[in-house]
Amino acid sequence: MEPVHIEVRHADGRGYPIDLAEGLGLRLLAALDALGVGAQRVFVSTAPIWRTVRHLLPEGLPDADVVLMADGERHKQLPAVSRLYDALMRAGADRATTVVAIGGGVVGDTAGFAAATYMRGLPIVHVPTTLVAQVDSAIGGKVGVNHPLAKNLVGAFHRPLAVLGDPRFLATLPRREFRAGLYEVVKYGAVASVELFTRVSHDLRGIFARSADVLLPVIADCCRIKARVVAADEREAGERRILNFGHTAGHALEALTKYRRFRHGEAVGYGMLVAARLAVARGAMPADDCEALAQAVTHMGPLPPVADLAADQVLEAMRLDKKVRAGRLHFVIPRRIGAVEVVDDVTDGELRAAMVATGLRG
Ligand SMILES: NC(=O)c1ccc[n+]([C@@H]2O[C@H](COP(=O)([O-])OP(=O)(O)OC[C@H]3O[C@@H](n4cnc5c(N)ncnc54)[C@H](O)[C@@H]3O)[C@@H](O)[C@H]2O)c1
Ligand SMILES: [Zn+2]
Repeated sequence: MEPVHIEVRHADGRGYPIDLAEGLGLRLLAALDALGVGAQRVFVSTAPIWRTVRHLLPEGLPDADVVLMADGERHKQLPAVSRLYDALMRAGADRATTVVAIGGGVVGDTAGFAAATYMRGLPIVHVPTTLVAQVDSAIGGKVGVNHPLAKNLVGAFHRPLAVLGDPRFLATLPRREFRAGLYEVVKYGAVASVELFTRVSHDLRGIFARSADVLLPVIADCCRIKARVVAADEREAGERRILNFGHTAGHALEALTKYRRFRHGEAVGYGMLVAARLAVARGAMPADDCEALAQAVTHMGPLPPVADLAADQVLEAMRLDKKVRAGRLHFVIPRRIGAVEVVDDVTDGELRAAMVATGLRG
């Protein structure tokens, strides 16, 4: 499979490349050199990730240069950022230093926020090692950490210097983490590409086998969609909102269950179903397309249960979401597979009915 090169090109004429290739991890140092990254580099990862992907990275990469932060979503908080500042200071980092984040969305978002703020900004290269990070979090420049009371509350926009993805990293990803990423892949298809949606729905066996030949084109399609959308609307004033398809109800489900029950992608899986059922009920989407989406989601594997969660509690959690607090609730509803629209007139009654149709308690 040929390497893939995608350019994120913003309205100000600047941007960054996304390079995807099997074995790119092993060529990381050469790839950084080719990008013109200076000799001073601080690599950031976590101990479990580093142990797992070390053999897919260059032998010449000195382990001593790697800063290991604590693993897991609960460490995506300001104390971890503070410890990264300490490590950057110990390494003598200045504006000529490049941060290289090797990990999933937690490492990318946390190291990205540290890079965005240390000395008002160090360049960062993302080396995403999860499917979520390869198709989503490494692209678009959103970085940040959670507040104990609210997800992603503290953050910044910080464009990376480059995103370097290698599908080989995904071989060791726990199956549930892999599936969590696949729901986001389904989302890209549902939002912008019937071709991607159909390919993913019909080749689950190939995808779950995780061969680079099957995964690379899928990841590339997702990256192209995200690159196109964020290039046009970096700060989410308009079009970028379409990428929130499934995320309004999804985030509410996550918050309501204290981020313990669902992987983010799983909650988005439910969120897409809620949005699709709502769309059918208001005559905005054909029932067949809703059925296709439901099949794609359920065929990925079992989702955590929702029958014990009351639709009204989820509605309550939605009202606390930062996207709602800013003003009206912008809700993404599908028109058909491959096309969505953003509306702001969705009623509680419609949402409640769609949630009940998706298995929540009425
Ligand atoms: N910035 C954005 O635009 C954006 C977009 C989507 C998600 N996010 C954020 O990303 C985070 C979720 O990212 P995630 O799903 O990658 O989770 P994660 O970073 O927590 O990684 C999930 C788990 O996979 C393990 N892991 C990572 N790479 C591995 C590998 N190659 N093999 C085996 N195990 C591996 C990690 O140790 C971790 O336990 C959330 O905090 C979310 O808010 C940000
Ligand atoms: Zn998401």
